[in-house]
Amino acid sequence: MGTRLPKSVVPAIAAAMVVALLASGTSAGIFGVALAAPKESSSPRIVNGDDSGPGDLPFLVALLDAYDFEDEGAYQAQFCGGALTTTTTVVTAAHCVFDEESGAVTSPDELLVALTRNLKSPNVRTVGVSAVTVHPDYDSETTTFDIAVLTLAEPVLDITPVLPMRPADSPSLVAVGAPAKVAGWGNLSVDDENFPDAFKIGRLVIFPNESCGSGSDFSVAGVTFDGYGGSSASAETMLCAAGVSSTRKIIDSCQGDSGGPLVAGDGRAMRLIGVVSWGEECASTWPGVYTRVSAMSDFLTATKALVTLAPTTAPAIDLTVLNTALRVNFTTTDDGSAISSFTAYATDPTTGVVFSCTGLPRVDLQSPFCTINGLANGTAYAVSGASANSLGISPMSTTVSGIPLGVPTPGGIRKVWSTDDKMIVVTVRRSRDNDAPISKVALRCSPIAGGPPRFAPVGQDGWAFLSGLRTTYYSCAIIATNALGSAVSAPKVVKVTR
Ligand code: ARG
Repeated sequence: MGTRLPKSVVPAIAAAMVVALLASGTSAGIFGVALAAPKESSSPRIVNGDDSGPGDLPFLVALLDAYDFEDEGAYQAQFCGGALTTTTTVVTAAHCVFDEESGAVTSPDELLVALTRNLKSPNVRTVGVSAVTVHPDYDSETTTFDIAVLTLAEPVLDITPVLPMRPADSPSLVAVGAPAKVAGWGNLSVDDENFPDAFKIGRLVIFPNESCGSGSDFSVAGVTFDGYGGSSASAETMLCAAGVSSTRKIIDSCQGDSGGPLVAGDGRAMRLIGVVSWGEECASTWPGVYTRVSAMSDFLTATKALVTLAPTTAPAIDLTVLNTALRVNFTTTDDGSAISSFTAYATDPTTGVVFSCTGLPRVDLQSPFCTINGLANGTAYAVSGASANSLGISPMSTTVSGIPLGVPTPGGIRKVWSTDDKMIVVTVRRSRDNDAPISKVALRCSPIAGGPPRFAPVGQDGWAFLSGLRTTYYSCAIIATNALGSAVSAPKVVKVTR
């Protein structure tokens, strides 16, 4: 076993860096070890990781200093990583949002979350933060419980979050030697400062608990790593991991990767198992140390960053009647399930055919809705709805009945009987009501040369007449109106004579 530096050296190095940053006149000090200034362009990886590609680990986010972002852009403003675990929460490291000097938690308006892989791209997508919650047991001396949750100012609806590992999840995810991935925009070099534009991915293996608090060595692909003793690490709240490349280079996270995700499992089974926390230098013969996410369930549940249940409460629905459509408006009670969509169904009572629509929560979290199209006017549909998150759907709402209605189909002019004596006399074909009672049918004639239109009611007998007109050409049409609006027939041109 090599020289085992006591863990307490790490905060000391961190403190020295803060002093150095303050002395260099940057505002980065508030973010402690996290922000490494100034960044330079890159060549290698996380340390010895792989390049990321479009669509890789879409839940990975960068934490930005909001003020530096304004002044210098995302690349310069990035100081930590994080992971979207629901539509409205990011899990990161406590030390990313905690000032060791003052003991203050970073205020939400100093932070932005970036959702773009390449921080030098011209359109970096950012979301604001509305709350920062640090684990109540976080200890900056021992770096235990190094985890925090950022609540987003608006939901991110188009990115699939990663679920935090729970105690009940398969222990094989964190079994000794199991593969895991870490990703971030952190330092690429061991003894230099060199940050990538797009995040890097490091392929790691899980170390035994004995290397993470009991001081045992562990070998990966012929490389022997030292283990941390009990004075520096604790396997209960920490997880140790490192990798070795095919060319026998050590793969590790590094400064700037903090807060970022360590994930295991594939596809829907992928879980957030760790949060980048600390390590003895980078890519040394000491593993990287990660906050053990499965031991943080209570905190993550309390901060709504861990959703374990499908929605438990049925939404209430009401309908807005439209032409060949029904708009379904949802009202939900917050059961902590982080609803990500709403679905409504309309069943035709005679044929049993079901029509549906899906809606997303609104940015303002108010009255979401969706519109079921393609329905027949005048048919009474049985409509119900449910809300859903990635784990399942709620019970069905109570069923309400809705009859889509349309504006009338105007009948049009059947025959022009007279255009003499400055009058127009016509007979009119019947308008169809389309199931909403017609309130008014009118003849409208507008002088083609310009001027205000003239209106006359169409009587029950189907006759209409206008008098006192000018001796010129008029364009005439029938307008039929019901509660949903008006419709105008094809026009007919008539010449009025004296
Ligand atoms: N504390 C570092 C940060 O703020 C992360 C260090 C991770 N180190 C390691 N060897 N894995 O970015």
